[in-house]
Amino acid sequence: MLPFESILKQAREQCEAAADLPAIEQLRVQFLGKKGIVTELMKTMASLSPAERPLYGQQVNELKEAIQSLLQVKQEQLQAHAMNAALERDAVDTSLPGRNVGIGHLHPVTQTRLRIEGFFSSMGFDIVTGPEIEDEYHNFDALNVPPHHPARASHDTFYLEDGHLLRTHTSPVQIRYMKTHKPPFRMVAPGRVYRCDSDMTHTPMFHQLEALLVDDHSTFADLKGLLQTFLEAFFEQSVVLRLRPSYFPFTEPSAEVDIQCVKCQGEGCRTCSQSGWLEILGCGMVHPQVLNNVSIDSERYSGFAIGIGIDRLAMLRYEIPDLRLLFENDIRFLKQF
Ligand code: FA5
Ligand code: MG
Repeated sequence: MLPFESILKQAREQCEAAADLPAIEQLRVQFLGKKGIVTELMKTMASLSPAERPLYGQQVNELKEAIQSLLQVKQEQLQAHAMNAALERDAVDTSLPGRNVGIGHLHPVTQTRLRIEGFFSSMGFDIVTGPEIEDEYHNFDALNVPPHHPARASHDTFYLEDGHLLRTHTSPVQIRYMKTHKPPFRMVAPGRVYRCDSDMTHTPMFHQLEALLVDDHSTFADLKGLLQTFLEAFFEQSVVLRLRPSYFPFTEPSAEVDIQCVKCQGEGCRTCSQSGWLEILGCGMVHPQVLNNVSIDSERYSGFAIGIGIDRLAMLRYEIPDLRLLFENDIRFLKQF
């Protein structure tokens, strides 16, 4: 056997045994590198006679090409193998159902607020906000509710340690707005309000929307007309309203407005405490003393104000039996709207 054949055999065996690409590289160095076996064979050619050289050279070349192709074939095998393994590892099972992206939506109270804002905004009202932490001056005094007035007690106020309070209604925004604007104007102020109160139709935090219009010719009839128009636009149907004479220190005359209970159509149920009616807002003509308090001439200007319970309207529109459901944040409940 020629020495080359044993070298080729050795190369073939080692090549077969090679487990990875670095092993192939090592074989390439071992056989074909600068100090490799084949290269050394080439170098011995110098010691041969000129007659022997061509055949010898040809045989070494054949050996070299044979080893090169062995390495090449094995290298390709290993590469293909590695790629298949990677594909299998990263395979995506396209038959699996996709993961759902939960798309949120607006809370029913927010939807209701936007709906109310949309109406008033279309009627030319500014939309403004005021602070939830108020002082007694804006929440009570300037609204004509003097210290020790019984209306203060009825508001079940949360007081803060420093004498501030959580506003009990959105009416203080009237004061803030009137102090910084000159009539004629019309605005609405939505927001959270707080009272120490909780049952099916009362929660300690709830939402009101204040509407205020001041100009030199507004009347109670305008107020009533606006309310009817608003409520019919809001409910998209004719609505049965009831205006009850009422008392607020900051309006005169004052009324509370009830809407016929949509749950029982006025028959009487738990939601309306068997009365057939639900109170949704308070309103009235701005008291001249309040206008004086903010330096608006009450001889020249008059106005009306409305305080709407946003949650109550949400409750009616979506037929929610218990107001507290709105604030429990149970996703199964909220998903229905
Ligand atoms: C007021 O808060 C007056 N500021 C409203 C007002 C504004 C009158 C402007 C005149 C002029 P009242 O306390 O009645 O009034 O509340 C107004 C509305 O808020 C009620 O009709 C009711 O819809 C809602 N509301 C009152 N208390 C609660 C409560 N605890 N939970 C949910 N809604 C309530
Ligand atoms: Mg009331």
